[in-house]
Amino acid sequence: MPLDIARIRAHRPETEIHYLGTVGSTMTEAARLLAGGATHGTVVIADQQTAGIGRLGRSWVSEPETGIYASILLRLALSAANLPIATLVLGLATAEAIHKATHVACDLRWPNDVLINEGKAAGILTQLVDTSIIAGIGINVNQTSFPAGLRTRATSLRLESGGRLQSREAVFVALLDSLDGFCSTLETQGPDGILRAFTSSSSYVVNRRVIVEEGGVKGWTAGLDKNGFLLVRSDAGRLERIASGGIRPDYSA
Ligand code: BTN
Repeated sequence: MPLDIARIRAHRPETEIHYLGTVGSTMTEAARLLAGGATHGTVVIADQQTAGIGRLGRSWVSEPETGIYASILLRLALSAANLPIATLVLGLATAEAIHKATHVACDLRWPNDVLINEGKAAGILTQLVDTSIIAGIGINVNQTSFPAGLRTRATSLRLESGGRLQSREAVFVALLDSLDGFCSTLETQGPDGILRAFTSSSSYVVNRRVIVEEGGVKGWTAGLDKNGFLLVRSDAGRLERIASGGIRPDYSA
């Protein structure tokens, strides 16, 4: 079934929402709107993407009328050095929204994988355009299977809630509300408030055995630095600051 966009608009009358049945990628559409002067909070959401974009040049499988495929424009009070904090804000908001709407608890894997039982339930992509951020959020809501060969095992809210069909509208409205909440936390408490929230919501920030995807360094996670980058104490004893890419659990030790 297509999204009940009227229900979403009724919950969020103040939000500018652009709804599309099918689009190549909501990221491209959001970039077009941004170039035309769209403001903070503007949303592009689609029922289907034919060319969904993932991180690091990967694609994002976007089965019709099953997941949430959205891009949201953000203008946050962050310096260039602090931009990784925006990614953490989005992960926190997505995890909180999923929990509120479905009662399924999520873990966060730096920088922006939203996991349930170690399966990836949502992914976040941030693109910086001048001082604005285009935040792309894909949430696996009602998928019951995924293509073979994905790098990380994928899961969905439906699979993690005993097969119960979940409301995409409820999850998306909760996402917009949670995003407002964490943007306010950023405004009132600054980056430290977000760093604290992420550290307490993620099992990956401290004392987790990981492999760094770029370069393959192995070690133990050692917290976030003040700009939101992950620190890893490598097996060679060096404190590495992970500036790009991601991490995977290392079960070999
Ligand atoms: C990741 O690789 O983990 C990030 C995936 C981000 C996917 C979302 S779906 C909505 C938006 N439009 C896209 O083309 N990509 C993002």
